[in-house]
Amino acid sequence: MADLRVDLAGVALRNPFLLASGIWGESGESLKGVWAAGAGGVITKSIGREPRAGYPNPTVESYDRWGFLNAMGLPNPGIEEYPQEIAIARGAGALVVGSVFGHDADEFADLAERLAATGVAALELNLSCPHAEGLGAEVGSDPGAVEEICRAVVRRVRLPVIAKLTPNTHDIAALAVAAERAGAAAVSAINTVRGLSIDATLRRPTLSHGLGGLSGPAIKPVGLACVWQIYEKVRIPIVGVGGIGRAEDALEYVLAGARAVEVGTAVAFEGVGVFGRLARDLSSRLDALGVSRLSDLVGAAHRESGAGATAAAP
Ligand SMILES: Cc1cc2nc3c(=O)[nH]c(=O)nc-3n(C[C@H](O)[C@H](O)[C@H](O)COP(=O)(O)O)c2cc1C
Repeated sequence: MADLRVDLAGVALRNPFLLASGIWGESGESLKGVWAAGAGGVITKSIGREPRAGYPNPTVESYDRWGFLNAMGLPNPGIEEYPQEIAIARGAGALVVGSVFGHDADEFADLAERLAATGVAALELNLSCPHAEGLGAEVGSDPGAVEEICRAVVRRVRLPVIAKLTPNTHDIAALAVAAERAGAAAVSAINTVRGLSIDATLRRPTLSHGLGGLSGPAIKPVGLACVWQIYEKVRIPIVGVGGIGRAEDALEYVLAGARAVEVGTAVAFEGVGVFGRLARDLSSRLDALGVSRLSDLVGAAHRESGAGATAAAP
């Protein structure tokens, strides 16, 4: 059996499949269920300073099997309440990564410090939500802000810090370089791709917030391109996210440069059983390829390709 274990910036994962933030991570019990189903680790919902109700419905539009357009508005119970959920998941032995969002470096650093105290293995910074005013991608599409936020968090906590980046920018690699310069241990890419759905009968956007973020199989090529471009510019590990629902998708991300991957929309489509299936299928796929360790394949497609793949198509 191929070895799927991953060292992600010093965090030992039993396999590369992490639960992506915001899907199935609302409670300790749900995180526990994902761990029991075989995930390599679970990432919490993004947690902020205060409880947030999120936007009114409708907040999600489903495109058959292609994915979701969502604008949830970062609903979460706030940093006072959420640690007890982490305790439940950790009590079941789960490897938990905490996710935080904020308006500025101080807020990120405060939240990171408080989440670090819960015993999480690493922290992911949501610098990339595409539909929250003054938060997420609004701060995270500026390399200077990414650097400042990452530096503030890295100074405050002793845990590996993962900067989650937005694809809604012309140069995601510049964001990754800024995170690396600030001392981030890893970057994850991508959060959702900005999108809009219109209800032609009502003559208005389908989601209450208007703009949303697209996820699922439709965005896999975007995620792959982002990981590819980042791999060419930074040495810290990359976590690939976006449209992963089959072992083959994960393998493509690894070949593009990802060391681990996150799974979101596929969990909503299929349930937590997706994690066991992905690990089994990836192991069989590697056996069939005669590859004994997944980590040997990280970035391998760069070595096989000429320079052409790095240039954008006309
Ligand atoms: C309903 C929903 C809620 C999400 N909430 C968060 C969140 O709170 N924090 C975050 O960093 N990403 C959030 N995301 C983005 C996912 O973590 C992931 O980056 C994105 O969906 C792409 O992966 P996927 O195609 O596997 O879903 C959310 C995505 C969806 C669909």
